[in-house]
Amino acid sequence: MRVTILGAGGFLGQKLAKRLAREGLPDGRRITALTLFDLAAPAVPAAGFPVHPVAGDLADLPASAIPEGCDIVFHLAAVVSAAAEADYELGRRVNSRGTDAVIDACRKLARPPRLVFTSSVASFSGGQSARLEDDARQVPANSYGAQKAAAELILADASRRGFLDAVTLRLPTIVVRPGRPNKAASSFVSAIIREPLLGLETTLPVPRDFAVWVASPRRAVDWLLQAAVIDGTPLGLDRSVTPPGLSVTVGEMLAALDAVSPGASALVRAAADAVVAGIVGAWPASFVPTRGRALGFAAHEGLEEVVRAFVADDLEATRRERGHG
Ligand SMILES: NC(=O)c1ccc[n+]([C@@H]2O[C@H](COP(=O)([O-])OP(=O)(O)OC[C@H]3O[C@@H](n4cnc5c(N)ncnc54)[C@H](O)[C@@H]3O)[C@@H](O)[C@H]2O)c1
Repeated sequence: MRVTILGAGGFLGQKLAKRLAREGLPDGRRITALTLFDLAAPAVPAAGFPVHPVAGDLADLPASAIPEGCDIVFHLAAVVSAAAEADYELGRRVNSRGTDAVIDACRKLARPPRLVFTSSVASFSGGQSARLEDDARQVPANSYGAQKAAAELILADASRRGFLDAVTLRLPTIVVRPGRPNKAASSFVSAIIREPLLGLETTLPVPRDFAVWVASPRRAVDWLLQAAVIDGTPLGLDRSVTPPGLSVTVGEMLAALDAVSPGASALVRAAADAVVAGIVGAWPASFVPTRGRALGFAAHEGLEEVVRAFVADDLEATRRERGHG
């Protein structure tokens, strides 16, 4: 199997590449080549098969990013929420025209590849009181969400036409993100766990009873791999799936933090931020992922396990990157 990851230098892309290099595909089919594409050539993990890093712009996609014979394309490259809201042109270029370029590249292949696309909870609205079923309408409250929702439709149509075989995952907010705070409006959801574990203060732009729909990076990578290998037939015309995330309050997250590192939540200071609250306040706090469960997407682990997984997988590397030890 030839596999490509677009956005392979990003948070989830790096984790997915490492997991593929270490464990291969979950159905046991052998990987013969892995292409890693991003703006800068991504790091190459040790693997028992050739790994090709490719640098370029998604909207001007080089042919080497999705080479002839490619069987699985993970399309993770994106301009994230607050960045796409701050720079409309950039968001359109990468999230919309970039996805068009991916479809065009797939059309040139002799055989349609499985295309795993990462959409987002941000393609919905409804806010704190929402508990959305699988057939809820996507009414985005920001440009990033609109670009993701539009890409879902365009990919479903490309799938219907046989250019590719799409499975879209509407990912929750992924916690705990390692490294530095990023330009996602949801950055604080990871920061309130990560920064205290680094011994650093951080701010909370929303109240403690604010609820978010989250998933861990480990589980998100599980889902991406499942999406790469599932039988697409039961999806029919609707190629999008809400995987079974967790609906949690900020207070519950801080309690899980304290359970792993007693007293750490004292480093989280309330500081209301109307811009951030305006974006994340529109995102639904909860989903009913009936379809995702029926399709066999793995159920979520508890919050304490999420915090412990961050400590095990990413805390030391984050400390080194940030220069705190
Ligand atoms: N992390 C989350 O909480 C979350 C939640 C929902 C959906 N998603 C989606 O999952 C995917 C991966 O998220 P992530 O957290 O790893 O994001 P990320 O920002 O860490 O990674 C995205 C990657 O895309 C690359 N990219 C941006 N513009 C590009 C361009 N013009 N050409 C080539 N590459 C380009 C970036 O360099 C980056 O490495 C994204 O599509 C994101 O929208 C993420």
